[in-house]
Amino acid sequence: MNQYIVNGGHPLFGEITISGAKNAAVAIIPAALMVDGVCRIENIPQISDVTLLFSILDELGAHVRVLNQHAVEIDSRHIHSTKPSLDLVRKIRASYYLIGALLGRFGEASVAMPGGCNFGVRPIDQHVKGFKALGAEVSEGNFVHAVAKGGRLVGAPVYMDVVSVGATMNVMMAAVLAEGTTVIENAAKEPHIVDLANFLNSMGADIKGAGTDSIKIRGVERLNGGTYCIIPDQIEAGTYMTAVAATGGQLLIKNIIPKHMECISAKLMEMGVYVEEIDDTLLVRRSGPLKRANVKTQPYPGFPTDMQPQIAAVMALAEGTSMVTEAVWNNRFRYVDELKRLGAKIQVDGRVAVIEGVDHFEGAPVQACDLRAGAAMVVAALAAHGTTEISHVVYIERGYEDLVGKLRAVGADISVIDVPDEEMGMENIG
Ligand code: EPU
Repeated sequence: MNQYIVNGGHPLFGEITISGAKNAAVAIIPAALMVDGVCRIENIPQISDVTLLFSILDELGAHVRVLNQHAVEIDSRHIHSTKPSLDLVRKIRASYYLIGALLGRFGEASVAMPGGCNFGVRPIDQHVKGFKALGAEVSEGNFVHAVAKGGRLVGAPVYMDVVSVGATMNVMMAAVLAEGTTVIENAAKEPHIVDLANFLNSMGADIKGAGTDSIKIRGVERLNGGTYCIIPDQIEAGTYMTAVAATGGQLLIKNIIPKHMECISAKLMEMGVYVEEIDDTLLVRRSGPLKRANVKTQPYPGFPTDMQPQIAAVMALAEGTSMVTEAVWNNRFRYVDELKRLGAKIQVDGRVAVIEGVDHFEGAPVQACDLRAGAAMVVAALAAHGTTEISHVVYIERGYEDLVGKLRAVGADISVIDVPDEEMGMENIG
């Protein structure tokens, strides 16, 4: 098991190239199960969630051929099971996409309740509601077992009671091979929803309106093979923006989609960070002091909840008192106790954190409680005086490709050490 050792206080200078989007990849890979042919997927991030999904697909009978570091071919012509094994599925939240994909193509799926980062109640009632609307019988226990009455789903209107990324993508997948038309209302609009729709359309699906709150899916008979390239990761780019905001210095963040970054750039600019968009690159510089700000997380195009811990780490170093309101998840402040170990002054009351800026952080041992909490620890540690040891970084490795290598290349003093498992006292990873 790895730990990161960070000797902080070095401003970052140089270029970082952003990898493919994790939350697009973890939907598109299961969606490849729906293709009755071979699909080539490019710009796949090298992260552990992706590796796990490849193992699950392989077990179901898909043939995954690695072409290079970031490209694979998936051949789903000979799937022999619609029941992935419990131990793999439990380790990754996105395994719920296997339900929509398998149910849509084969009329049945039996998938263990998904794992993933723990930051509050993570129900899947809206996914189930959508599957039922399309004519599936669904039973829930340790497994979600879904069967299409009559063997094939039938398109229908689906109104989402909450704006859910996962439910929107899952119902969209299920509807692609259904008979007739499905309209998802109150759909989520995140960039990875558009990316999944573009992937499915490039394989022969008929999806319109992805990126708006009303998505129309006309069912088709089958999906054929093709080639698709995943979008860059908005949150990875945002994380490096907060890193340079915390440490000072100047980064060129390459391979981004500027529109996706606006919600993050706007907040950092409000805090006194210089951000300039140059084609598919962002120049981010922080030389002066950081100013206080308030932020409230919201579904896209609002400020992303997956950037909340990282921006909080920056706010903890800003002049004055900032406020963070978490409006998506009901328990995403578990990292606050860890930031306090570095000297942050933060009070949490329900979904609101009041942050009184401090002059600097002091290095200390901290834990990554989940993926983005771990990213926030790295951001804070890079700015801290002295040495910070970050444990449980397995969470960070779920979603950031070569974080350590990318940061070292821009002047960070960060290294990885291997620590025996028992010293970590760790349970229930994933
Ligand atoms: N919700 C329901 N019922 C449902 C589904 C969701 O009440 O059936 C609620 C949730 O409890 C939450 C809200 O709706 O309060 C939003 O949840 P959503 O379904 O949008 O989240 P998700 O699809 O499970 C994805 C990302 C998360 C990200 C959220 C919000 C993946 C694999 N995960 O989760 O990403 O925080 O959307 O944008 O795409 C991360 O990358 O670190 C991460 C946690």
